[in-house]
Amino acid sequence: MGLLDSLKRDKKSAETTKRVETSAESENSTSKAEPEINIEDIEVVEREVHPRVEHQAVATPIKTMKDKAPVNHVIGQTKVMAIINQKGGVGKSTTAINLSAALGELGKQVLLVDLDPQGNSSSGLGVEKSQVSNCVYDVLLNDAPIENVIIPDVCEGLDLVPATINLAGAEVELVSEMARENRLKDAVGSLRGKYDYIFIDCPPSLGLLTVNALVAADKLLIPIQCEFYALEGVTKLLDSMKRVKTRLNPSLDIFGVLLTMYDGRTTLSRQVVDEVRSYFGKTVFTTMIPRTVKLSEAPSFGQPITQYDPTGKGAKTYVDLAKEVIQRG
Ligand SMILES: Nc1ncnc2c1ncn2[C@@H]1O[C@H](COP(=O)(O)OP(=O)(O)OP(=O)(O)O)[C@@H](O)[C@H]1O
Ligand SMILES: [Mg+2]
Repeated sequence: MGLLDSLKRDKKSAETTKRVETSAESENSTSKAEPEINIEDIEVVEREVHPRVEHQAVATPIKTMKDKAPVNHVIGQTKVMAIINQKGGVGKSTTAINLSAALGELGKQVLLVDLDPQGNSSSGLGVEKSQVSNCVYDVLLNDAPIENVIIPDVCEGLDLVPATINLAGAEVELVSEMARENRLKDAVGSLRGKYDYIFIDCPPSLGLLTVNALVAADKLLIPIQCEFYALEGVTKLLDSMKRVKTRLNPSLDIFGVLLTMYDGRTTLSRQVVDEVRSYFGKTVFTTMIPRTVKLSEAPSFGQPITQYDPTGKGAKTYVDLAKEVIQRG
């Protein structure tokens, strides 16, 4: 029985009961009136109870680099890219997860470094944070070798450096450390030649964690949400990029600007596209990520969109983006 049918039948039953009660009342008061409805006629409605199914992440044992599947191709020049925008909720983690997974499925070797204490890239790839003993915090502050922290093959071709809530302390603790801006660069540098792409999912701030990402990265991938105030804060981000470029990382540049949560039915989305394209020109990817419910559901199942809804438009556009990323070299 469908929900609508169930509701209709419940409503009918409630009306029937009401009528019986009303007629019973009037019978009591007049003791003459015939009951409108025989009690026998009342349909017994069995309500379907749909138990609420909570998704439970399966606690599979965390793998280590010893378990890593062999890589069957020669890795070229590793590209390290920070997925960055200090504005919150613009699609950084969604892009980090789904672009990395799409590139992995296209045969590339990819590492995703979760540099956000919220750990959305980690949970979105099905990694139970409670099971993670070492995270990127230990790499930045406890000199843990990054290889010991990598969880291999979270998806085809995709390894992960997870984040846990411990990372929240890093922003403050890094302040008093020597060479505090270079911690991630040194760690990631040791992995050059082992991956085709290393992505860094940045937190929504311009603190020391983000500065570490700006120093470690060769290029930036900037997601911009197709919403009012889309470009708000972008000048500040570009200023930070220029400052790091001048002092710490001369080759840093924008790799691409990605329009996210695009809804072609709204004038606003189309206006933002025009505005962003006229501001950034050719750096804007042709592929735009549409707003789809499936993309927002996938993380709660711990799966990238290419697994959760492989035939939907979310998966298609992230695969298109992956191809565009490969094409840009
Ligand atoms: N294309 C999309 N369609 C629908 N929902 C989306 C899409 N992209 C992201 N979302 C949803 O929007 C929210 C913010 O996305 P996401 O977490 O990727 O942003 P973020 O920039 O990483 O946020 P933060 O700054 O907090 O790290 C999430 O709930 C996500 O599921
Ligand atoms: Mg995020």
